[in-house]
Amino acid sequence: MSGSPGGASRAERWAGDGLWVTFEGGDGVGKSTQVALLEEWLAAGGRTVVRTREPGGTPVGELIRDIVLHHRGHIAPRAEALLYAADRAHHVAEFVVPALERGEVVLQDRYLDSSVAYQGAGRVLDAEQVRGLSLWAAGGILPNLTVLLDLDPAVARARIDGDDRPFDRLEAEREEFHVRVREAFLGLAAAEPDRFLVLDASLPPERLAELVRARVESEIAALG
Ligand code: TYD
Repeated sequence: MSGSPGGASRAERWAGDGLWVTFEGGDGVGKSTQVALLEEWLAAGGRTVVRTREPGGTPVGELIRDIVLHHRGHIAPRAEALLYAADRAHHVAEFVVPALERGEVVLQDRYLDSSVAYQGAGRVLDAEQVRGLSLWAAGGILPNLTVLLDLDPAVARARIDGDDRPFDRLEAEREEFHVRVREAFLGLAAAEPDRFLVLDASLPPERLAELVRARVESEIAALG
């Protein structure tokens, strides 16, 4: 399958070489820990794994990340959605698809579901339009598997409060925003049950890692 931009409505799971797993969820749900644990396990099994993230993941993406997460003033909601989509377009074309085509496993912290949840539900833009924009940006490709770590935003907030670092623009949003984001993620998972693995992120990290590994094992087996 080609990674070149297709029509806005095209949406297909990646069916080429490699394996593409994205991690989604609200802020503070423990995605980075799970990405790291899965990477360790896959690498120990002899797989070539690359770890990446959105926004970011490329030098251009890191510049965009700095704007969307750390700009001090207001960013118009449509401009914000376009910035995330621009990051995604570049990241998918220049980093993700080439790695998959080399047969590697790509573990990615956030993808277009984050745009639908945050810019769509959170920022009250039209969710379908936001999804269409991201699909256009990404050439219509979806990951083999999306792990959604689901957690009550109040619990997630308590975790972030324990970290010794300032909030970014999204983390600083009010609780209702994060409640809408959580509901949007769960709605996306319900609409695409084959792509999503939804896990209760209040489980101990090692237990979560086991559940993720079990699903990834079956995805790898399905590749043949
Ligand atoms: P991330 O680095 O994953 O932060 P955290 O570790 O706190 O989850 O994501 C940065 C923020 O960017 C996060 O608050 C969600 C937001 N975001 C969007 O609003 N839209 C998007 O398309 C993406 C990829 C992220």
